[in-house]
Amino acid sequence: MAEPQAGPELRAPAASGPAGAPAGEGPPDGAASILFVGDLVGSIGRHTLLDCLPILRERYAPTFVVVNGENVAGGLGITPKAADQLFAAGIDAITLGNHAYHRREIYPYLDNQPRIVRPANYLRGQPGRGVCVVSSASGLRLGVINLSGSLYLRTGRSAFIEIESALQELGEVDHILVDMHAEATSEKVGLGWHLDGRVSAVVGTHTHIPTADARVLPQGTAYITDVGMTGPRGGVIGVKRELAVQAMLTQMPIRFETSAEDPWLNGVLVRCSKRLRADSIEQVLMPRPAPPAAA
Ligand SMILES: [Fe+2]
Ligand SMILES: [Fe+2]
Repeated sequence: MAEPQAGPELRAPAASGPAGAPAGEGPPDGAASILFVGDLVGSIGRHTLLDCLPILRERYAPTFVVVNGENVAGGLGITPKAADQLFAAGIDAITLGNHAYHRREIYPYLDNQPRIVRPANYLRGQPGRGVCVVSSASGLRLGVINLSGSLYLRTGRSAFIEIESALQELGEVDHILVDMHAEATSEKVGLGWHLDGRVSAVVGTHTHIPTADARVLPQGTAYITDVGMTGPRGGVIGVKRELAVQAMLTQMPIRFETSAEDPWLNGVLVRCSKRLRADSIEQVLMPRPAPPAAA
């Protein structure tokens, strides 16, 4: 993770493609929508997703749902139990980032569960894989690639070089989603331009703050620098704000705890009508629904 602020649900207008791709163009079998949800922070993030998901499924009927789960276990890392819970809720794939290896118990899981990916540009000897393919009920194939930026983050190789073998490894698919987990906006913008026209979407994660630049690039790749996080906006990028502020104030080590205040879901919906191209990308910024009032 690398954040903080309530109010009504916000949904930015969908950013359309370059010249506004004509509706209905292309083979109808390439039509798909992808809901990508930013870094789930702690159990509050996981429950926010689980509470929002039925509403989002009804509203958007996404073909695929992909989430970044690098902070879902108490704010750092992911456990097999948490991942299983996400898959049981119908999540198609999970991406990770710099906290992928915080929990040792996830290592064999990363090797054995094909629908969870850690950055492809980590060392080959590290647990897990960086690429996966998931299929929809209608037989559409989505390739998911996780990459990591280099600034302030440890990577085995450059994301810009590794992407070529990652794309090759995917083979024939209908759509490709790339989660570029990076601190620097420049690395994410650069990768978006580098992949424009070759993948359906490049989404940035890691900073936990959604950016206001969602758009479809000229060759048809949906892009956003950071999707944001799904977790407590009342904290500081997921951490209880009083602890985070205290650490900044005193410059002394402080044991961080995950905030539970003001949970929101941050995501994007990418709509596509032809293979490997996006028509639009729409931000989905939604507070956790209030529990039904007791009768
Ligand atoms: Fe994160
Ligand atoms: Fe991160």
